[in-house]
Amino acid sequence: MAIYSEKVMDHFRNPRNVGTIENADGVGEVGNAVCGDIMKIYLKIDDDIITDVKFETFGCGSAIASSSMATVMIKGKPVSDALKLTNKAVTEALDGLPAHKLHCSVLAEEAIKMALKDYYDKNGIVYDNEVFAKHSSCEACH
Ligand code: FES
Repeated sequence: MAIYSEKVMDHFRNPRNVGTIENADGVGEVGNAVCGDIMKIYLKIDDDIITDVKFETFGCGSAIASSSMATVMIKGKPVSDALKLTNKAVTEALDGLPAHKLHCSVLAEEAIKMALKDYYDKNGIVYDNEVFAKHSSCEACH
């Protein structure tokens, strides 16, 4: 059996929403202390809707596939939906990742959260810090 699902291979070989956004409304960058990989997410937000999202990932194939899938999942959605995106949902949408690669999907969740936090900060929107607390169960990452 292949280690990676077809969806993972598809998003790895043909990642969606790669790039940057000039004058992004929110930018989030996170790194994984264990593997050293870095992910950066750019958001364009109009009227509380994520109208555009791009990512740059200096990381492994699973991180690239996770970022790609995560951007697809939040594009066109309200900020409140994007805030609820979990690495579990991203992993499920990819039809799974090997256990030792689950931490790669956490980068996507956290980079999106950091970009949304940046958006809130830039716009003086008050928020509960708890929303941005690390909820991930991935021990490799914390
Ligand atoms: Fe670092 Fe996948 S091994 S993000």
